[in-house]
Amino acid sequence: MGYLYELKGVVSAGKEARVYWGVSPKGDDLAVKIYLTATAEFRKSILKYIIGDPRFDKYVPKSTRKLMILWARKEFKNYKLLYSVGVSVPKPIVQRDNVVIMEFIGKSGRRAPLLKEVELSSDEYIAIFSGVLEDVRRAYREARLVHGDLSEYNIMVWKGRHYIIDVSQAVKTSHPHALALLVRDLRNLRRYFGEEVGIEVPSLEEMFHYVTGEELRPGLAVLP
Ligand SMILES: Nc1ncnc2c1ncn2[C@@H]1O[C@H](COP(=O)(O)OP(=O)(O)OP(=O)(O)O)[C@@H](O)[C@H]1O
Ligand SMILES: [Mg+2]
Repeated sequence: MGYLYELKGVVSAGKEARVYWGVSPKGDDLAVKIYLTATAEFRKSILKYIIGDPRFDKYVPKSTRKLMILWARKEFKNYKLLYSVGVSVPKPIVQRDNVVIMEFIGKSGRRAPLLKEVELSSDEYIAIFSGVLEDVRRAYREARLVHGDLSEYNIMVWKGRHYIIDVSQAVKTSHPHALALLVRDLRNLRRYFGEEVGIEVPSLEEMFHYVTGEELRPGLAVLP
């Protein structure tokens, strides 16, 4: 590829995607995310995030391989956009076919822990919570994107800093379900930081207003 010198161990083997530790020709660690074949169920679940996103729904491929390439392209585009407005995500490097290459978060092939896997002090949790919420706001306002699967499983913590990952499903704010997805993301953050970790968090209404500048009215954010 020119960007990748060597593919090393597997970092994560999910159902639909595998993440490998790779090394660049210069010797930098890379994360190499490869989308594999999709089940009919996965196909159905990802179509919701493709149809309705004006960037990707002009032509929705029938073949699974083409759909996975589109899914990788969508993730890379989302990473680029988020990175360009200063949201804390791994730096995207290149995408080709069903492969997305980005900055490796961690050291010597050992990935950084997920938020779910770390134990921090209250002050550290407070700092990460406000940083993540600020990123959700920046993503919404400056990238016009809603993550759509934000939780303690898709945030990594490295050197006191958070990194938001797994952005293939992120949609433009014009997507018909964007606000419902945003509310679900905010609920997840409140549940994790408020209920599980136990720090003080704002109300859902306050968080929604902080992110969008709008009032959260009933019926605005229903997922079908
Ligand atoms: N840039 C990165 N640097 C280091 N590790 C990463 C990076 N991106 C992803 N990972 C690791 O790979 C895992 C899976 O990545 P990601 O969440 O993007 O894929 P996924 O499609 O959700 O896969 P899964 O279903 O396994 O969660 C992450 O939980 C994380 O541990
Ligand atoms: Mg994930």
